[in-house]
This record gives sequence, C-alpha cells and structure tokens, in this order.
Amino acid sequence: MISRASFYDGPVFSFAQAFEPFLQTHRVRQNPNSSPGGTMLTRAIPSSGEEIGVIGLGTYRAFDAQLTADKKRDLTDVLTLFFDAGGSVIDSSPMYGRAEDTVGQLLSEMKAHDQAWLATKVWTRGRDKGVREMDRSLDKLAAPHIALMQVHNLVDCDTHLDTLRNWKAEGRIRYIGITHYTSSALDELSAYLKRGGIDFVQFPYSIEDRVAEDWFLPLCADLGVATLINRPLEQGGFARLFRTPVPGWAADIGCTTWPQLLLKYLLADPAVTCLIPATSNPDHMRDNLRAGVGDLPDATLRRRLRNEIG
Ligand SMILES: NC(=O)c1ccc[n+]([C@@H]2O[C@H](COP(=O)([O-])OP(=O)(O)OC[C@H]3O[C@@H](n4cnc5c(N)ncnc54)[C@H](OP(=O)(O)O)[C@@H]3O)[C@@H](O)[C@H]2O)c1
Repeated sequence: MISRASFYDGPVFSFAQAFEPFLQTHRVRQNPNSSPGGTMLTRAIPSSGEEIGVIGLGTYRAFDAQLTADKKRDLTDVLTLFFDAGGSVIDSSPMYGRAEDTVGQLLSEMKAHDQAWLATKVWTRGRDKGVREMDRSLDKLAAPHIALMQVHNLVDCDTHLDTLRNWKAEGRIRYIGITHYTSSALDELSAYLKRGGIDFVQFPYSIEDRVAEDWFLPLCADLGVATLINRPLEQGGFARLFRTPVPGWAADIGCTTWPQLLLKYLLADPAVTCLIPATSNPDHMRDNLRAGVGDLPDATLRRRLRNEIG
C-alpha cells in the first residue's frame, strides 16, 4: 500500500503497478469493443475491504429525463459503456426528479442490476417519512437491496442514521453514508464522522473547489471512511476550458482531454475512493472512463495543472 507521504513525494507513479498484486486477483470484466481501453483502477472501502471502480456515475439532471427513444438509447449506451469498462457505482436521490425511476427501468430492461453498485439517499424529515421514502426509492430502483443509503445534505441526520443502523443490521443496505453539496458543510460532516458508524461520506471536490484537500480528505483516511466525490466537473462549469487544447504533458499520464485531466487530478489523492461525474452523453462517458485507467499525476504535475487552471 502506498502511504500518503510517499504518494506525494514521488514522481509520476502508476497505480496499476502499485496495485498489480491486488489487480491480478480482482480483474474487472471488460468488453474490448466498447471500453475505452485498460482496466479501471479500483479502491477499497475501508470499512469492508470491498473494491469499487474509481469512476462512478452521478444521476442529477442526467437521468432526470423523459425516456424518449433518443434519450433511452443515449442513457442505455452510457450504462453499457460504464459497466463494460468496470464501472459499478451509480449515485441517485429522491431529490433528482425521475432519476431513480430511469435508473431502475433501464437496469431492469438491460438485466444489469447485478452489475450496479447502487447508492441513493434519504431526503426528508421524520422517521416514518424517511422509511417510506427509502422504501419508495428501492421500488423505483427496482432493487430489493442497495449498497449504500446516504442522508442527503444532512437533513434530519440523527433520525435517519438510527433507521439506517437498523437497516444495515437487517441486511437491507450494506453501507451508511452522509452527503453535502457544499464545502462549507465539511466541518459539520466531520463532526458526524468522528462519532463513528459511517462508512461513506459524499462531498464536493474539484480543481476549483479544493477545500477538502487540506484537511478533510486526510481526516477521512485517518477515520477509515470511504469518499464519494460529487460535482467533480463543477456541474459543467468548465465548458470554456474544454474548448482549449490540453497541455503537452497531458500525454505523459495518458490524457487527451480536459475532463480526463481534471478527474485524474482528483483521483491522485489516495483518500478519494470514487468520483461520480454525471453524464447523459455516451461520448462524455467514454471520456470520463478514460480517467479511471493508467497513470495518475504526481505532486509536480498536480501543481502544474493548478497553475494552468489559474
Ligand atoms: N448533496 C448531494 O448529495 C449531491 C450534491 C451534488 C451532486 N451529487 C451527486 O454527484 C453527481 C455529480 O455532480 P453534478 O452532476 O452536480 O456535477 P458534475 O458531475 O460536476 O457535472 C455534471 C455536468 O458535467 C457535464 N459533463 C460530464 N462529463 C463531461 C465531459 N466528459 N465533457 C464535458 N462535459 C461533461 C454533464 O453534461 P452532459 O450530460 O452533457 O455530459 C453535466 O452537465 C450528481 O449527479 C449527484 O449524483 C450529490
């Protein structure tokens, strides 16, 4: 295992090399016809040791869609590319309109529930309302069990954490999580993590919003809490940057586009377990998946990238 110190001090290193002994026994299924090439990197969930692919899929807006023929084809392609490349983590919420229904319907039609590692959230107040909402989510996702249930934006957090502890004991969920959409809530998230009993924390982290980098990610690593990174592409806020050429050195870490560079920047922090960029566009899915293979930037390249972004 690479320590945080050796990670930051070293030159460009290859996660594939570092984890080779592990990867030899945990190769992820791959379809050479449709994957972007290479084996997706995986990271372990500290509380269980279970390995998950580092590129997940968000569903906010992207899957809140009327399933017209075109939309259905695109979203089915997105999911097919994702699974074929070794992706599995899909994050949703009852807050995202039709997203849970869309995911459930497409997975059912694709007979792909066994390939999905489903995460959703509870986003209401009150114990009974929370239970009803979570039951509805399982129905919408057409899944008898889901991997991870998270308290969305810490809404009525203590109430729902009580329920989730029972659900975990009963085997209805495997992991308990908490989330927030803003870095200003990291203090509040950290207070919950320090109390224990939480497997996952989800929060924003991007090259433009690096508040988590200095203290929150190291805290998660110390406490053994897995991290899901939301808003890794600033909700589409880098569109102008994406129209400019990538720096020449991007090729040194196998990147041909800005999204690949920006996602690899985040993955280079060893306390990051999985990024969940959202997309409904198969070309963007292909692009994002390429960030999950090959070399990651070292401290020097990360600094150069920060300087490029300005
Ligand atoms: N409080 C919470 O729990 C919370 C808060 C925020 C987010 N989340 C979760 O985190 C996920 C990710 O966050 P987000 O959706 O807000 O923002 P995001 O993933 O940073 O950005 C999504 C946007 O980026 C675009 N995009 C994706 N890949 C691209 C690529 N390769 N090239 C160009 N554009 C690309 C997408 O458009 P296209 O569809 O056109 O690709 C979409 O507009 C959410 O979907 C949700 O599951 C949770």
